[in-house]
Amino acid sequence: MGSFTDDPCSDARKFLLLWGCLSVLAVASLGSRTRHFKWQVEYLYWSPDGVENVVMGINGQFPGPTIRAKVGDIVAVDLTNKLQTEGVVIHWHGIRQFGTPWADGTASISQCVINPGENFVYRFKVDKAGTFFYHGHYGMQRSAGLYGSLIVDVAEGKREPFHYDGEFSLLLSDWWHKDVHQQEVDLTSKPFRWIGEPQTLLINGRGQYNCSLAARSGNSSLSTPCTLKGSEQYAPQILHVRPNKTYRLRVASTTALASLNLAIGNHSMIVVEADGNYLQPFSTTDMDIYSGETYSVLFTTNQDPSKNYWISASVRGREPKTPQALTILNYSPTSASKFPPSPPPVSPRWDDYDHSKSFTNKVLALMGSPKPPSHYHRRISLLNTQNTINGYTRWAINNVSLSLPTSPYLGTIKFGLNNAFDHKNPPDNFSSLYEITKPPVNSNSTYGNGVYMLDFNTTIDVILQNANALKANVSEIHPWHLHGHDFWVLGYGEGKFSTKDEAKFNLKNPPLRNTAVIFPYGWTALRFVANNPGAWAFHCHIEPHLHMGMGVIFAEGVHHVGRIPNEALACGLTGKMLMNSNHN
Ligand code: C2O
Ligand code: CU
Repeated sequence: MGSFTDDPCSDARKFLLLWGCLSVLAVASLGSRTRHFKWQVEYLYWSPDGVENVVMGINGQFPGPTIRAKVGDIVAVDLTNKLQTEGVVIHWHGIRQFGTPWADGTASISQCVINPGENFVYRFKVDKAGTFFYHGHYGMQRSAGLYGSLIVDVAEGKREPFHYDGEFSLLLSDWWHKDVHQQEVDLTSKPFRWIGEPQTLLINGRGQYNCSLAARSGNSSLSTPCTLKGSEQYAPQILHVRPNKTYRLRVASTTALASLNLAIGNHSMIVVEADGNYLQPFSTTDMDIYSGETYSVLFTTNQDPSKNYWISASVRGREPKTPQALTILNYSPTSASKFPPSPPPVSPRWDDYDHSKSFTNKVLALMGSPKPPSHYHRRISLLNTQNTINGYTRWAINNVSLSLPTSPYLGTIKFGLNNAFDHKNPPDNFSSLYEITKPPVNSNSTYGNGVYMLDFNTTIDVILQNANALKANVSEIHPWHLHGHDFWVLGYGEGKFSTKDEAKFNLKNPPLRNTAVIFPYGWTALRFVANNPGAWAFHCHIEPHLHMGMGVIFAEGVHHVGRIPNEALACGLTGKMLMNSNHN
């Protein structure tokens, strides 16, 4: 079909095709369909926050186009790299890629990068309803703006386990004025240069730098009101609602760094979905969301309809140097240009971790959700530390700082190219003597690219252990994201994990997710079944942390993987192997 939109019938300019569309729909309604997209990735001049900059966009848009599909559909994205001198890949965050591990979109892991001028077709099935997103997964291309929403609706004739009258989608991100190439140089310099806090938080790619929407109503410490004239790129996207209705708000965070807190002035929210899995509904007035997470919340428009209300997103877990992001909830028939009379929601103090933990502990699976196996086969304990290697500042997991190989793991494992990466297995554990409350005594670690080879169909427990960073009295939040699987979050705890803590695991209704946070000086316990043949990244979703080595690779059942497209293999050793097999 080669259409730029997910719905070939939505575009009025194509009304001549209407007859064709109707017949396509008639066929489609019988079952699943393929949603075709043709995308070009390119740099664009753009003003995400009023300051002109260069962003990585798709088809002339930032953020990229929204993909909308139904459970059972095939999504087919034909991606052309129009960047001048950089490769590119796109990862479909939260889609497990059963049977298509080469479409996971991770450079050096699932595929070779798509070179300038080349194209690659990502073709995969969406088998679960929920709120997802996609983003670049090469270098720091996500920070450069390469991201968009991916929403999967329930299959035809199926219903969500909750009711709503309308829906909105908020894609949250953070934005730096310094370009990502310079940020990459900062992070890999000796001595190390930290990239600092973001200038602006963006909601659906829109933010306001150095001015405040709230100043219009005299409610902001930033006294300069934003002028929104000539600002189609950064004017806030206003949410238009009718009184006494229930709306679903889909929220996804693709921030490079910031943990966020979202609130709607005067309205409480009922949380019903996380990372594409239904939750036991609970009510809250504000919600924490970490990079890599998605949520759906319901809210009811039961407030005074003659007013408008703020929707805000503010920084958590780091001393906020970035003003909160704002947009407006507009009740009809009130004018959308009327600023809310009350000040924007005040977010909890940035280091009020008790507040964060109490929210996180309320996230539990909907009754009747799949339960975890009661026992595990293998436990992998991963200690994260900040280290120096030859004077470079890095993050390491059990003393190994991930540095990706030139040939993608998926192909090299499948074809047994033994010299493609470290064959020493990375450690399943760390010294029981390690003192997590102190800066590392011996901060040396090594680069590595070994793989945790998991036995197919076994149950794996991962204990994520947080520790003190290089500086005394600093321990950061890290949201960990697993590719190819959802995991059950069995529990969170303080201090160093001990086997005694196992008794506290929640095996009754732990939430299934693909991203889970570790709190400062704490641990998080996860369980998943290694049932998806492929090579999968598991990493901190904070972009600079991953860039500094904070991740590991899991692989399972790779001999079950079907034919990998040549384009995904044609680089490094796997490329050579392809050439040799051509000669035979
Ligand atoms: Cu959304 Cu490997 O990340
Ligand atoms: Cu991190």
